[in-house]
Amino acid sequence: MRWTERQRAMLREMGVPPFWPEEAEAPAETVTESAAAPVLPVAAAGAPVAPPAVPQRPVAATPAAPARAPIGRPPAMADKPAPIEAPLGARPAGVDTMDWAALRTTVASCHACSLGASRKQAVFGVGHEQADWMIVGEAPGEQEDREGEPFVGRAGQLLDRMLHAIDLTRGEDAPARQVFIANVLKCRPPANRNPQPQEVSQCEPYLLRQMALVQPKVVLAMGRFAVQSLLKTSEPIGKLRGRVHTVQGVPVVVTYHPAYLLRNPADKALAWADLCLAREVRAEAG
Ligand code: URA
Repeated sequence: MRWTERQRAMLREMGVPPFWPEEAEAPAETVTESAAAPVLPVAAAGAPVAPPAVPQRPVAATPAAPARAPIGRPPAMADKPAPIEAPLGARPAGVDTMDWAALRTTVASCHACSLGASRKQAVFGVGHEQADWMIVGEAPGEQEDREGEPFVGRAGQLLDRMLHAIDLTRGEDAPARQVFIANVLKCRPPANRNPQPQEVSQCEPYLLRQMALVQPKVVLAMGRFAVQSLLKTSEPIGKLRGRVHTVQGVPVVVTYHPAYLLRNPADKALAWADLCLAREVRAEAG
């Protein structure tokens, strides 16, 4: 496989070493966060390690996932809908039939759990509303809460590099290159604590509706909370990655959260294999 210079640079940034002998090149001189990542073990002096195995493709259907009903593109909204307020503990009704505008307004004013009181703002999601790719993370952190956009901190910078490595972007570009990025929770848990089960269940209909509206060709679920809440399982990521799951009729590929990869750079090679699997799934979807 031949990489463009840009893709090679991105792989270096992810901390993924060159996989093929003809691709081997001197390591970058500049010390970056990922250049400091441990280089994967080398089989024999000078011989690059074999590529992380791009896994076989057993498809694991999620039994609980209902079949996705065909959903049309959201109609253009002439007027902004009035916010649908719900008392604490009550989720607004009708989320599963909302269009983008109603969903955005509802999320922005949601107080279905206590995070509505501590957040600065809800973080709805970003990207193309009909993107082929949807990325699902955990919850906004401090910076996301301040800026109103998911994945803008250090983990987000790594996510952007991962996306660029497979020629995708959150920015405005050719629609085929764009993604839609959303989190399981739309509001920041205080002090960046883990999401609580009740928060996840209150917020879940928003994410499922986003998926139904985007109708992505592949979902990349990043990290334990995204994976376990979408797939309705408590299995660890290590046991779920490497195969294709299905949620609402959409193929879901599981991988590590970028924040985890920042702490465990050696696993970037596994994440790279997951990206390759997702890219394969996307290509097969036509
Ligand atoms: N981590 C996430 O999972 N989501 C964000 O938006 C930021 C950090």
